[in-house]
Amino acid sequence: MTIEDTSTRPAVSRRLYTEEEVLAEELATIFAKTWLLVGFESEVPQPGDYVTRRMGADPVILTRSESGEVHVLHNSCTHRGTQVCKAAFGNSANFRCGYHGWTFGNDGRLRGVPGRRSVYGPDLDLGSLGLRQARVGVLHGLVFATFDQDGPSLEEHLGDFRWYLDRVFGFFPGGMEVYGGAHRVVIRGNWKIHAENFIGDGYHLRIAHRTMFELGVMGKQAGKTRGFCISSPNGHGVRAQYVDDEEAAGIVFGYPDALLAGTGDQDLPDASAFRAASSVIHGTVFPNMPFITTAPVQFGDDAVGQTAFTQVRSVMPVDPHSHEVTYWSLVPKDAPEEWKKQSYLYSIRQHGASSYFEADDLENFRRIDAGLGGPAAADVPLNYDLGVGVPPSADQPPFTGPCTVVNQDLSEVNQRNFYRRYAAVLNGGDAQ
Ligand code: FES
Ligand SMILES: [Fe+2]
Repeated sequence: MTIEDTSTRPAVSRRLYTEEEVLAEELATIFAKTWLLVGFESEVPQPGDYVTRRMGADPVILTRSESGEVHVLHNSCTHRGTQVCKAAFGNSANFRCGYHGWTFGNDGRLRGVPGRRSVYGPDLDLGSLGLRQARVGVLHGLVFATFDQDGPSLEEHLGDFRWYLDRVFGFFPGGMEVYGGAHRVVIRGNWKIHAENFIGDGYHLRIAHRTMFELGVMGKQAGKTRGFCISSPNGHGVRAQYVDDEEAAGIVFGYPDALLAGTGDQDLPDASAFRAASSVIHGTVFPNMPFITTAPVQFGDDAVGQTAFTQVRSVMPVDPHSHEVTYWSLVPKDAPEEWKKQSYLYSIRQHGASSYFEADDLENFRRIDAGLGGPAAADVPLNYDLGVGVPPSADQPPFTGPCTVVNQDLSEVNQRNFYRRYAAVLNGGDAQ
């Protein structure tokens, strides 16, 4: 197959990032069978609301039907396959196909066929001709879907890693919502480069983003930090970094005090320990949902006015050399409107499609694509050894969470784990 697992280290072939056949396999296995993030409940708050998205090669519509239920519908007419919804978002009770006019309800059922009685016989069974429905699973307002009707549940797919998602997305008792809509852009580079960057690449920060740190655009930078890489056998991973400074103890940076009053350990054990003193938490839910929650370290005067932000992405392949990114900024629902706006602005300035951080990363993704496609070194695997053979640091994580927690700030353990899972799914292992 495409990955050799030599002892404990997967040697990742360059083919994975360039070849059409690899992408075809990914679409048929990973994207067709794994739970994928489609959007957020807060994007479709009212009956009739919808947004259009993609699940691998399949266009879909995330809708809220008249009964209030969330559906993920295949955006392809059951007559000739035409996309029945062309808009990016809107509100509609029905989707009328633009070719011959078959009309589907926002629950996916086929409601009307032009001239049905006169041009079709009496046997046309509308009940069996609805839009194909994906299975839907919701966690803290994040809507996941899969077209694999018999595969693992969302709970099984997330496994113990849910502990971390609960503390990122379920930290505020009132929940979180999308602010500012979904931003979409197509960028150069294979989708996996983006997924593995977020899953645990703390190594690139001081090089790729050096100018940002030197300019101090994020306010005072913590002198000493400690970090931990956490990985799940299901391929998910997160890196949590903490500020080693007495002033930081107990502080969840970047949120108004009133908003933090209702948070804590009562329903989520160790939530405070996981979030407090954290300068950044970033990860990827396998296969393609990067996320980040971060805040400037707010005991420097130069951080005044900057807020925390939480951002979620979906990275969806377009071809082996490019992928579409959807960016969402999330804010606590109970936050004041002014604060929500400020957090959103900070999110798009730092990590939006044209932000100062993103410019550095997207340039590197583009250069990776330019660098590894040729035949000269096609047989030379990429190196994922960071952290191998290095004793864990003496720092202990401030929380007691599940999965494999490695006491190293800079390690590619999460990337190695991602590719082990990736190889297992491509090789016919379950897509859990
Ligand atoms: S293709 Fe949709 S009605 Fe014919
Ligand atoms: Fe980066």
